[in-house]
Amino acid sequence: MAYKDFREFLAALETDGRLRRITVPVDPAGELSCMARWMYQALPEERRFALLFEKLRGVDGRLVTAALGASRQTYALALGVAPDLITERWVQALCRPIAPVDTTVAPCQELVTTGADVDLGRLPVPVWTPGKDAAPYLTTLTLTRDADSGIQNLAVYRTMVAGKDKVLVNLSPGRHGTRCWQSYLRQGRPAPIAWAIGCEPAVHMAAVANVPYGVDEMTIAGGLKGEPIALVKAKTIDLMVPANAEYIIEGEIRPGEFDQEGPFGEFAGYMGPVASKPVATITAITCRRDPIYYGYVSQMPPSESTIIQSLGNAGLMLKQLRHDLGHASVRDVHIDLTYGGVLAHGIVAMKPLYPGHAKQVGRLVADLSFLKRVTVVDEDVDIRDAMHMDWALNARYNPRRDTVIVDDVFCPADMDPAVPRVDGKPGINSKIVIDATEKTESGTFSLPPAEDMDRALALWKEAGLPSFDIPKRCKFMLSRG
Ligand SMILES: Cc1cc2nc3c(=O)[nH]c(=O)nc-3n(C[C@H](O)[C@H](O)[C@H](O)COP(=O)(O)O)c2cc1C
Repeated sequence: MAYKDFREFLAALETDGRLRRITVPVDPAGELSCMARWMYQALPEERRFALLFEKLRGVDGRLVTAALGASRQTYALALGVAPDLITERWVQALCRPIAPVDTTVAPCQELVTTGADVDLGRLPVPVWTPGKDAAPYLTTLTLTRDADSGIQNLAVYRTMVAGKDKVLVNLSPGRHGTRCWQSYLRQGRPAPIAWAIGCEPAVHMAAVANVPYGVDEMTIAGGLKGEPIALVKAKTIDLMVPANAEYIIEGEIRPGEFDQEGPFGEFAGYMGPVASKPVATITAITCRRDPIYYGYVSQMPPSESTIIQSLGNAGLMLKQLRHDLGHASVRDVHIDLTYGGVLAHGIVAMKPLYPGHAKQVGRLVADLSFLKRVTVVDEDVDIRDAMHMDWALNARYNPRRDTVIVDDVFCPADMDPAVPRVDGKPGINSKIVIDATEKTESGTFSLPPAEDMDRALALWKEAGLPSFDIPKRCKFMLSRG
């Protein structure tokens, strides 16, 4: 299903019972994010929904959060596949990217404000950790461009609203937006930058995939959507922006302008540090008529941020292992949705083909990603089933023999609370790789044969006992005998 824009996706969410309208007035500077926090902390994943705030106190407009990343189910709806197929759909999109097309038909430019009329205070930008964040923050798509190659970059970098036409952008060392900005700095020119709010879901999903520098995430968005993303020339800067967005904020980072950014509640569960970051001056705000603001809820996990980053990057990892690095016996990759997003736990299911193969793949994943923990299991383990994973760790893992510690890891995201900063700079971390694949011939499972279990299931039904879906782990176990 290729949604033409964000609104069409919201309508699909509502039809599917996965969007709630909040009609009581809510303050975007506090109450809004607290309500979103209750949803993530108190509701189990499958019961979560997008929150559409229809009446905001003190500011015009409507705001959505958790549209894409309330749960794996909302994300699957955005991709148009069943939840179990999200990772494979990502692999297809990465293998078949589709370049964007330029257009002059641009809903995102129905209303245009430039110059002295620009005022970010008219947008419903939330304070995400009230009482602790320094200011309202944009948590949305950031577009930049490499001055030398002309290739654009799409990502999400938290952006602090510092005045009616000023923001501070969290451009961290090593990040692609930072490299784009620095490419202009080297030429002594202002760097163009834009924020897109409320695009077709594929654009939002592609932005947080950690693809190599020089790959325009908009081509991956095309692959995910199944058709090219329409881009239009921005009104005041030299960037192409998503034509169907709800809002576009255009700006430029002028050489030599810095200020203190933060604190801001971060995705690993603590407040992020205050640091000097580049100032961007806003040159235009364009939007649709009656625009809908979309901001990601991040901070204490689980959150929209951890869910969208985990799902996309699992697909990227599977594609890299299988297609780029030739490990064809890797069957599946899952990244823990709950706790730390990119810093969290990656799990690989594979058929090891030679001694040390599983450890080799585990080390590759640790090196290629920000994941702190990597566990490799056999292909007969359901890697999305916590009970089955725990069983594999108990039955097939010998810590002394099967653990690899990867040392001297620099955390470019600069946000790992377990690593103390040294002289104000991010410190050095380590990672763990666990090989929980079977290494000894352990014989058959201590379960009755499949035929006996099938007969018992028929009796179960005849006896009128409660019905259930057969867990995938049972299918795996019974098929081995
Ligand atoms: C809500 C949200 C906020 C984020 N904020 C930042 C940030 O401030 N700095 C950062 O480096 N990454 C941040 N990320 C993660 C990056 O957007 C993500 O890793 C992306 O793929 C980086 O793109 P790049 O490799 O093109 O730099 C954030 C992600 C989300 C969902």
